[in-house]
Amino acid sequence: MDQPFDLQGKVVAITGASSGFGSHFAGVLAAAGAKVVLGARRVDKLEARVEEIKQAGFEAQACALDVREKDSISQFINHAFEQYGRLDVLINNAGVESGAKTYAMIDEDDWDFVLDTNLKSAWLTSKIYTEQIGAHKQSGGNIIMISSITDTRTIKGQFPYAVSKGGLTRMTEVMALEAARYNIRVNALAPGYILTDVSRLLLESDGAGEFVKGIPMRRFGDFDDLDGPILLLASDASKYMTGSILTVDGGHVCASL
Ligand SMILES: NC(=O)c1ccc[n+]([C@@H]2O[C@H](COP(=O)([O-])OP(=O)(O)OC[C@H]3O[C@@H](n4cnc5c(N)ncnc54)[C@H](OP(=O)(O)O)[C@@H]3O)[C@@H](O)[C@H]2O)c1
Repeated sequence: MDQPFDLQGKVVAITGASSGFGSHFAGVLAAAGAKVVLGARRVDKLEARVEEIKQAGFEAQACALDVREKDSISQFINHAFEQYGRLDVLINNAGVESGAKTYAMIDEDDWDFVLDTNLKSAWLTSKIYTEQIGAHKQSGGNIIMISSITDTRTIKGQFPYAVSKGGLTRMTEVMALEAARYNIRVNALAPGYILTDVSRLLLESDGAGEFVKGIPMRRFGDFDDLDGPILLLASDASKYMTGSILTVDGGHVCASL
């Protein structure tokens, strides 16, 4: 393998690509040679990002997507297959949080909003992707879940979010076991804290200065800290990896007591 991180000829679909990580990943993966399909509800933002990627000389398309709607997920996955004849990598990145709420504060709507967006959608999108791989007789596939260090570490006041990420990590492991028969790899990226709309409440709070002291590298992450890890998981550089959770957090989860 001359260029193990090369994505030339690969098609990658990213959910939640209108802002934050998803929007960033689209540029990184396109620059490595991938044709990227960006999905989210805010189509104006998707189209603006697609334009930027094309202006840089790379290939990208926008497709409206609501991961809480099964038909919308099908249209998104089908769009990639119709446009490019294949879909090599699916990144289940779309995610939301419900504000600083404990289990006693959330109501059923909070629970459904977060769990449906962060967890149920990842299963359903992966299931539809697997079906389409079979329908198109594609030789295999690659699913990347965007989990979080709240999958294993506890934190007060992010109740449904942390529960959803714990489920997503477990989903990655069980799905990897079951998807191997279709030659589909399933791994997760588990980032620490990086400033986006999902983390803004905590990272811009009065307690942020104290919180950062719990990170051995003494800083929150930057978007480009995820570039190498996402390229690893999306490319053949990780061809013998499945069921792995790749933590990228400046040492946050291994911090001492
Ligand atoms: N920031 C962090 O510190 C951090 C750390 C670990 C993990 N993560 C995870 O990283 C992922 C991306 O989040 P982010 O931090 O980049 O925040 P973000 O900028 O708010 O991005 C979230 C994305 O999800 C999309 N989304 C939300 N609901 C959706 C729906 N129903 N259908 C389709 N797309 C939907 C949003 O697009 P629309 O609103 O346009 O639909 C947006 O593009 C999330 O899974 C998050 O949990 C973040």
